[in-house]
Amino acid sequence: MRTPEETFPTHFTFGVATSAYQVEGGIENDWAEWERAGKLKEPHARCGRAVDHWRRYEEDYALAKAVGATAFRISLEWARIEPERGRFDEAALEAYRERLLKMKAQGLRPVVTLHHFTHPSWFHRETPWHLPQSVPTFRRYARRCAALLEGLDALVISFNEPMVLLLGGYLQGAIPPGIADGALTMRALENMVRAHAAARQELLERLGRVELGISQNMLAFTPDRWWHPLDRALVRLASPAYNHAFHEALASGHLRVNMPGVASTRVSIPEARDSVEFIGVNYYSRAHLRFVPRPPFIEFKYRDTRGRGLTDIGWEDWPEGFLQTLRDVKRYGRPVWITENGIDDRAGSRRPHYLHSHLAQVLAARAEGVDVQGYLYWSLLDNFEWLEGWGPRFGLYHVDFDTLERRPTPACDYFRAVATQRRLVAPGSSL
Ligand code: FCB
Repeated sequence: MRTPEETFPTHFTFGVATSAYQVEGGIENDWAEWERAGKLKEPHARCGRAVDHWRRYEEDYALAKAVGATAFRISLEWARIEPERGRFDEAALEAYRERLLKMKAQGLRPVVTLHHFTHPSWFHRETPWHLPQSVPTFRRYARRCAALLEGLDALVISFNEPMVLLLGGYLQGAIPPGIADGALTMRALENMVRAHAAARQELLERLGRVELGISQNMLAFTPDRWWHPLDRALVRLASPAYNHAFHEALASGHLRVNMPGVASTRVSIPEARDSVEFIGVNYYSRAHLRFVPRPPFIEFKYRDTRGRGLTDIGWEDWPEGFLQTLRDVKRYGRPVWITENGIDDRAGSRRPHYLHSHLAQVLAARAEGVDVQGYLYWSLLDNFEWLEGWGPRFGLYHVDFDTLERRPTPACDYFRAVATQRRLVAPGSSL
């Protein structure tokens, strides 16, 4: 007989994750503007038709079913739904509703993200996150989204990786809206916490009950020089600020960030207290932090310390950090969903092993009493990877970006075997 740690219980969900801008195609928003301004790594790259999921969604649901998935994460594209401030596009709302109903009818539980990095372009001009007006603006959008979710028993994510958006868009100026200001970053963070709480009110009013969370990018931090007191001090500051500040605010109603010389805040937001039903974790890698004697005082690197080789996007393959991360979120006393985990593996050969080593950590966490209820692989399909454009390939299915043909990678068989047998089969064994 197998010990319970070797198997996933029947209620454990295996699914796949996507986001609107990266797969749908034909979206006009702040990212499309950013691309036209030549701000991607490859200045001529464009998301454009993406992988045409907007038209091929039924085929893509079938592909998800074929790997044994029973949940499908999408995001709603705000710019489609509210193309001008205050004007909602009924046809876009109807199209999303139809997609969600079809998804559900195919036996895929919808996991719906309201905000996955992108905004309608007017948002940054009129009600950017650092202004209080952003909160009612998001609330009004969330009210429309709530109506789409009726009767679906969806898992709902208000914000995907708010800290990544804020670091990239407000502190470093590398992604939209391209601001680089620590004080504005903290105001934007506070407003996003308030916006989450406001969206929750709308969802509750419309749906009566909701399973709501955020997807938080969580990094396993480590000192670049294990012996260096300042590298170690950085790790002690970075993990609470980056990994936990948002989760913590939604649990306690207190938002605290303490990154001296970078950005700090301390504010009470009572309406955010107890405002999630689950903890969403996006885990990819470990980051080595090194103190440098000039602002912003932190250097951030991925390193290949174990000779496993970095992934193709250059991230360390560090499954051990997944367990550490899952142990760390146990403190919130809520069920945990892995809302993203995956590898950029352009040849498609490493992914089964990556899945195996990371799912082993999920089982280890469950054995320690962390209530992990689901695992959503990023991503079903190769897609448009933000600043990196069309280089990375995270998909279980390989997509030919010219013909848009979807072809299974070896990880499809592996994922299906684990999802259907509910145990960790060895990669490469006959499935
Ligand atoms: C995450 C994003 C997701 C995708 C993966 C690779 O940070 O949420 O959209 O780009 O990384």
